[in-house]
Amino acid sequence: MGVNLARSPNAVRRIAIIGGSGLQTLDNFDIKEVVDCTSEWGEPSSPVYRGYLEGNEIFFMPRHGGEQAIPPHKVNYRANIAALEQLGVESILAFNAVGGITATYGSGVLAVPDQIVDYTWGREHTFWSDKNGDLLHVEFTYPYDQDLRNELLSSAKKINIKLQGRGVYGATQGPRLESAAEIIRLEKDGCDIVGMTGMPEAALAREKNIPYACLALVVNPAAGKSTELISMDDIRAVMAEGIPRAQQVLSASVAELIAGP
Ligand code: HPA
Repeated sequence: MGVNLARSPNAVRRIAIIGGSGLQTLDNFDIKEVVDCTSEWGEPSSPVYRGYLEGNEIFFMPRHGGEQAIPPHKVNYRANIAALEQLGVESILAFNAVGGITATYGSGVLAVPDQIVDYTWGREHTFWSDKNGDLLHVEFTYPYDQDLRNELLSSAKKINIKLQGRGVYGATQGPRLESAAEIIRLEKDGCDIVGMTGMPEAALAREKNIPYACLALVVNPAAGKSTELISMDDIRAVMAEGIPRAQQVLSASVAELIAGP
């Protein structure tokens, strides 16, 4: 069945959620359609799921595919953003699990970053090619959409979920975690949190002119920020507690966006 690009009567905006580690599926998500969106940019991480999240229509894309199979440096970010563009998506809420660097970003903290430093390399990071027209130096002073960020913050406040209202996201290449010295460098650069999937996703959304914001869950102290080494068991425990809170914020934000101002 083809997707109807006309707006559904109650939807103010076509909203997509990009799920990250720990959020490969959404609770209370009633899937109505599974849309295969392969494009000239290749295969996205997964089909896009159109359905209703607590009654509100959204599109859902799990960034790492079905079972966390695709590592951060192998995600086809271009195909993923192109898929959402094809479906007429007008707003993207991206979820990312991250490590915490500075003092107020301890494990379990939810944050809505306002800036990015990009340390990734070798990823297909632009839709521009010399075959497809004029070079676009996309404006990226404020990498995240301010209105969407405000929506995440105000929706969380309404449901009494605490968020850090800003933060600098350092995007590293992975898939390995960082060394302690690398984290010291990131901190000196002004980074508050570190993750592997924030870029080039945010920049590609900007190239397509799709407003994009990130909800990040701190799942571990970054390398060297704790007396313990980073443990997957500890990360899983933090996720088990934090992911439901992240979902509540996403769901409340979707409801507010669709209800409109
Ligand atoms: N570093 C990079 N990416 C991450 C981390 C981290 O410590 N935790 C979760 N994603």
